[in-house]
Amino acid sequence: MVGFASTRSDAASQTADDTGVAWLHTGYFTGDPEQVDPDVAGLIALEQKRQREAVELVASENFVSRAVLAAQGSVFTNKTVVGYPGRRFHAGAEWADALERLAIERACAAFGCGFANVQPHSGIQANLAVFRALLSPEDVVLSMSGETGGHFSHGGVSNLSGAMARAVFYGVERDSELIDYDELRRLAETHCPKLIVAGGAAYPRAIDFAALRAIADGIGAKLLVDIAHFAGLVVAGAHPHPFPFADIVTTTTYKSLRGARGGLILTNDGSLVERLEKATSPGVQGSPLLHAVAAKAICLGEVLRPEFTAYGHAVLANARVFAAELMARGVRVLTSGTDTPLVVADLKPLGLLGQPIVESLDRAGITCNRCEIPFDDTDPALSSGLRFGLSAGTTRGLSIDSVREVAGWIAELVASHAAGSPEVAAREADIKARAAALMAPLPLYAMTGAGLR
Ligand SMILES: Cc1ncc(COP(=O)(O)O)c(C=O)c1O
Repeated sequence: MVGFASTRSDAASQTADDTGVAWLHTGYFTGDPEQVDPDVAGLIALEQKRQREAVELVASENFVSRAVLAAQGSVFTNKTVVGYPGRRFHAGAEWADALERLAIERACAAFGCGFANVQPHSGIQANLAVFRALLSPEDVVLSMSGETGGHFSHGGVSNLSGAMARAVFYGVERDSELIDYDELRRLAETHCPKLIVAGGAAYPRAIDFAALRAIADGIGAKLLVDIAHFAGLVVAGAHPHPFPFADIVTTTTYKSLRGARGGLILTNDGSLVERLEKATSPGVQGSPLLHAVAAKAICLGEVLRPEFTAYGHAVLANARVFAAELMARGVRVLTSGTDTPLVVADLKPLGLLGQPIVESLDRAGITCNRCEIPFDDTDPALSSGLRFGLSAGTTRGLSIDSVREVAGWIAELVASHAAGSPEVAAREADIKARAAALMAPLPLYAMTGAGLR
């Protein structure tokens, strides 16, 4: 690896003996990555090229604005604070306080709620904070099962949340593949959970928040709605709003919301605010990533603009066309459609597994991920499903016609696999060329070396 000091021409002429602070003369405050560290700079450039040329259908990704990207690289990177605005452990927090207050104000405006915590480092941190605030290990939490689309941070055994409460899981109806609200009510009445969790990683349909509120009220439970995948659609008015039904809403900020990586906790219940604050920090994390808070503030400003309303509706329209085209081309889609940016394809009727198709699509310049299918006992490491998200492609400007075309390519490649065609590799190469030709002209950050200018 290339060292920090060795890549700058002025490093050779000045040493620690000359200055006592040699690092200040090695491009420390002035060098760009391509000058200071060509190894990392090269990888950034390659990733930028990949992002430019691939059809990005990973549901948990998006392309942030240049301003969000710049804020992530701002001097707020350097500031440490612990606590909340006006109540910090470290001095020098005047501008950090102003920044966090601005982000909170915008989060409340975007989601129409009274209180927001913008500190969670990620969606899981946000969910863990809610669990810590509301639950003890002997309490029951009622969440959607992973195989029917729930998220593992809602009490899954693989996650710390699974040790923070005793999880009971609800699922979907076999025929409609929609949440089984009767089963949910039965489980709630039987197990008396202290918390009911809705929202997930692979459930494509709108959730009946009012029905969940009624069930929660019937047993005195709190209702948490994790809107990570459809938060942007909620803000845009393209999806039902979880408030006033939810006691607490959590979300990630980097999927359909199109912001920096991170999480938010939102509520209208003032009596929960202090508990949620303490549970977040020092409960499950320490000082906030203020550079990410700066980026969240910019994102939350962006989502309040009229363009974002158009974006949210375009994501939904693209997702629906994508689902319809897959179905028209012989690929089964869970619930026969979507109300969110998510589309889940079921490969079982075609006798295929998810993971090998994900890898084949990747070779063809189309990125997505595998996904479990309800009532399917295939090894989750292979799975029978493919999960797609239309948030990122829509940001790049994919039109309805282009989305239809891409769905056609996917169906074409899937059909080749199903037919055991010897032409699969040639088809992958052909689609990769078509994908690059479609995507490369669409807007993205200017490419200048590793720089993000
Ligand atoms: C519904 C849901 N909640 C939480 C998360 C976790 O987010 P993170 O990876 O930022 O912790 C995800 C991740 O994609 C998710 O889909």
